[in-house]
Amino acid sequence: MATDARPTTPVPRFPDGFLWGVSTSAHQIEGAAGLRGPSVWDAFTAEPGRVRDGSTAAVACDHYHRYREDVALLAGLGVDAYRFSVSWPRVDSPGGLDFYDRLVDELCAAGVRPVPTLFHWDLPVGLDWLERDTAARFAEYVSVVAERLGDRVGKWITLNEPAEHTLLGHALGVHAPGRELLFDALPAAHHQLLAHGLAVRALRAAGATDVGIANSHGPTWPASDDPADREAADFYDLLLNRMFADPLLTGRYPEGVGELMPGSAEGVEADLEVIAEPLDWYGVNYYAPTRVGAPQGAEIEFGGVTLPAELPFSVRRIEGRPVTDFGWPVVPEGLTELLTGFRDRYGDRLPPVVITENGCSYEGLDDHDRIAYLDGHVRALHRAVEAGVDVRGYFVWSLLDNFEWAEGYARRFGLVHVDFETLRRTPKASYGWFRDLLAGQRRVPVG
Ligand code: FCB
Repeated sequence: MATDARPTTPVPRFPDGFLWGVSTSAHQIEGAAGLRGPSVWDAFTAEPGRVRDGSTAAVACDHYHRYREDVALLAGLGVDAYRFSVSWPRVDSPGGLDFYDRLVDELCAAGVRPVPTLFHWDLPVGLDWLERDTAARFAEYVSVVAERLGDRVGKWITLNEPAEHTLLGHALGVHAPGRELLFDALPAAHHQLLAHGLAVRALRAAGATDVGIANSHGPTWPASDDPADREAADFYDLLLNRMFADPLLTGRYPEGVGELMPGSAEGVEADLEVIAEPLDWYGVNYYAPTRVGAPQGAEIEFGGVTLPAELPFSVRRIEGRPVTDFGWPVVPEGLTELLTGFRDRYGDRLPPVVITENGCSYEGLDDHDRIAYLDGHVRALHRAVEAGVDVRGYFVWSLLDNFEWAEGYARRFGLVHVDFETLRRTPKASYGWFRDLLAGQRRVPVG
């Protein structure tokens, strides 16, 4: 559904030092698949029927060869920082780390702070998050990257969205590695969290002082006041929000969850100490709230994902809201609700927050729907700041249209349009809008 809302009043000023940026990830933009080892995403996309349009990320935006042009786009936008991801299979390949060396140099020369994510779902083939050893292997790889880039990179992100990677990749099988384990996927969550904790230690050992994680979160709205709907919504909230944030911020799993994790009770307890290594900031990826009710005894199609009937909840449509081309509802105030809710839930244990992703998929170069979405969310974020939440940054997903996982190239999240035939980049109206917003934020107020 199109919206005509056009921002009229200027976005209020964010605190000094607020970090404005855009995000991407390696598998979604780099291409140059022949110059690195395969990841689980290469294996997954090679299976017929896994990706909606049958595409692969072998070329994607060809960012590997066109990174200079892309850094120039970042500089033109005027962002403070760029969140990208380092591909583990590329680092494991001869000369792979050289690419990130060049990229980081180019960013520094353009005055854009590099903010690498060390794992954004492209696990090397042969490794498996169901195996505990993968966490130790991750920490070794992180040390190698930190050793090489740490002289120019200050701000690090360990993992991207372990919740989605567990749910979509290991429980429901709609993302790589394509497993349909439902609740037997929980070890993949625990091992990613352990990998995070070990990575924080590895980064600290390499001298890092600015370390965070990017987790996907959203408010969960019960479908009604009916106790069965409330119970289902609480359970969903536990899966999406608490199962990942609680261990990181409080050193404990929510009640009943720790027992389901692999290893002895003492072993899980010891792991939790690693998982809860103090963070300098907490990254939140926010797209939309979820309305959840009691199970309905049937499969449900939701945002491109089919949810099996046996889950103890069902996802319901949020009515009366515009939706993006992906079918996700546009609910900016959900971001204020999420952040104030997190502050209330975690209190002093919540470190400063950075929004590490927020964005929407819409077609077209004259993307006023995207402008309305982003404008609404930036204002909602400001309301969270006014309500006392310590928010330090905001990153738009994404700089470029890219390979949107199981949706292939069918969903366009970029501020910059990419023609996937010619690989030509064309800034959209939203690129100009974001550039102007950033310029306005930097203008010194008169009087
Ligand atoms: C997030 C992912 C990111 C992108 C956006 C749309 O869940 O982290 O890679 O796919 O959704």
